[in-house]
Amino acid sequence: MENIKILDKAFKPYISAAKIQTKISVIASKLNKQLDGKDPLFMGILNGSFMFASDLYKQITVPSQITFLKLASYQGTGSTGKVKRLIGINEDIKNKTVVIIEDIVDTGVTLDSIIKQLRGYEPKEIIVVTLMFKPKAYTKEFKVDYFAFDIPNDFIVGYGLDYDGYGRNLADIYVINE
Ligand code: IMP
Ligand code: MG
Repeated sequence: MENIKILDKAFKPYISAAKIQTKISVIASKLNKQLDGKDPLFMGILNGSFMFASDLYKQITVPSQITFLKLASYQGTGSTGKVKRLIGINEDIKNKTVVIIEDIVDTGVTLDSIIKQLRGYEPKEIIVVTLMFKPKAYTKEFKVDYFAFDIPNDFIVGYGLDYDGYGRNLADIYVINE
């Protein structure tokens, strides 16, 4: 791994692909125990979680389903600014165990919005799994059940995470080099 540049910013190696896979195995085995017999529905949040969701889901051995949701920004009719609406909920999630798969939880504003919207569909329980977690930035109440890495408030890219849409293809994770 070497230093890279994306658009105007420099990044340095932070977490290797091998380390990511090791952590995913640990989380998967915990989930396989917790979810046994629950027939859960995994929900990957696009775009950022696509790689993590794919690698994690390959290691899930209990009978389950997966779907992908996206947060669409749209301008409300009022002047209250942007609201992010969750799109792609087709499955009947009422009384289901739902496992949210996120790329990163920073302030938690995004996760909070997702959970509030999902609750409207009356799932039985909501479990949150995120690849990266920035605990010092987190402002919300909902428990992040599983995270692969807790990190300081530094900007990272790679393994699905982007800087202005770029860098998602990197197999390793990089941190901004200031
Ligand atoms: P939150 O709503 O503050 O928790 O932010 C979550 C969203 O911000 C994530 O889904 C990412 O899109 C983005 N984000 C936060 N931190 C980073 C980072 O370090 N790198 C890339 N994207 C980030
Ligand atoms: Mg995201």
